Amino acid sequence: MSSVITCIEDLRVLAQKRVPKMFYDYVDVGSWTESTYRANAADFQSLLLRQRVARDLSQRSLRSAMAGQDVAMPVAIAPTGLTGMQRADGEILAARAAKAFGVPFTLSTVSICSIEDVAEGTQGHPFWFQLYVMRDRKFVQRLIDRAKAAQCSALVVTLDLQISGQRHKDLKNGLSAPPRLSLLNLLNMAGKPRWCLGMLGTRRRTFGNIIGHVEGVDDMASLADWSSKQYDPALSWEDIAWIRRQWPGKLILKGIQDVEDAHLAVASGADALIVSNHGGRQLDGAPSSIRALPAIAQAVGRQIEVHMDGGVRSGQDVLKAVALGAKGVYIGRAMLYGLGAMGETGVTRALEIIHKELDLTMAFCGKTDIREVDASILLPT
Ligand SMILES: Cc1cc2nc3c(=O)[nH]c(=O)nc-3n(C[C@H](O)[C@H](O)[C@H](O)COP(=O)(O)O)c2cc1C
Repeated sequence: MSSVITCIEDLRVLAQKRVPKMFYDYVDVGSWTESTYRANAADFQSLLLRQRVARDLSQRSLRSAMAGQDVAMPVAIAPTGLTGMQRADGEILAARAAKAFGVPFTLSTVSICSIEDVAEGTQGHPFWFQLYVMRDRKFVQRLIDRAKAAQCSALVVTLDLQISGQRHKDLKNGLSAPPRLSLLNLLNMAGKPRWCLGMLGTRRRTFGNIIGHVEGVDDMASLADWSSKQYDPALSWEDIAWIRRQWPGKLILKGIQDVEDAHLAVASGADALIVSNHGGRQLDGAPSSIRALPAIAQAVGRQIEVHMDGGVRSGQDVLKAVALGAKGVYIGRAMLYGLGAMGETGVTRALEIIHKELDLTMAFCGKTDIREVDASILLPT
């Protein structure tokens, strides 16, 4: 490799070189005009940190806890669909990197590697499972049972995908897993030999949690038909109550943007909520997560653990989110860029970069323990 990787942007650039266009675009995209996608990252920049000097910074700790789990820093891996298309067996690789680093890994319902694959690939190390509430409630029930059997230590229920935002690039690219072998796709893949070799060496090339687990869904055509009808527009808080009864472990509700919904999340008996707009992939025009966070943290932060995701690309971003009331943040694209660039090593690299930036930035602000960081490290804007 010609240049040294020093930041998440370096990983993004390398991922763009190594991952076929259709799957790189699937990551680096937001819905419609992408204004919320851009704002997620840009709004972090408008927050200013308060530098302090001449404080003893010799002993520092980033250790914390998220949803009852000790973490090396308050960062978890976000659930992302089709992760095994960025790099063969991507979910297993990312879960291993998270395990070694000491942060939670969240597996998506629409992953390529299945719950069982990841449990086996991490030697039973507990991970978190993200649930989409599909119309087929028997399938949902079975997913919950499979997550229990795999000893998943938290269930993350995503609430902001009852209907799907439109992402222009995915439609134009004809996104599918495995990719259709059109001339254009073949030409593009030919330029990504490392990716192709990996894919030839794995049997996991489509939705591992679904294929073989739904009656009548055993090939790509039936899968595509089933999935397109399965996100449930009728999802309600009664479904959350039902899930709460099924899942005795930690329950995290993902996709909260509004204070009223945050109060409903508290009433549902969930253990944590994630302030999230799905990485700018759903409601285009919604505020960035870092903008939505303070009001929600203020309203319910004493009753429920508040997490956030969206636009986190550096340790500075993590610090700002913690300052504004997040007990922890999740990284989606920062992890995916690492994975697409360098597989498991790339995910580790992404975590290392963020850890180092977080440690030094916290110290510049005169703090030595992440658990003591609050809004006093920000300048009034
Ligand atoms: C490629 C991609 C796929 C995603 N798939 C899922 C998913 O399957 N389930 C889910 O709850 N969220 C999904 N998300 C949203 C992430 O969990 C998270 O909210 C978002 O990526 C955070 O923003 P960031 O990418 O800027 O860190 C996805 C995001 C991306 C980028």
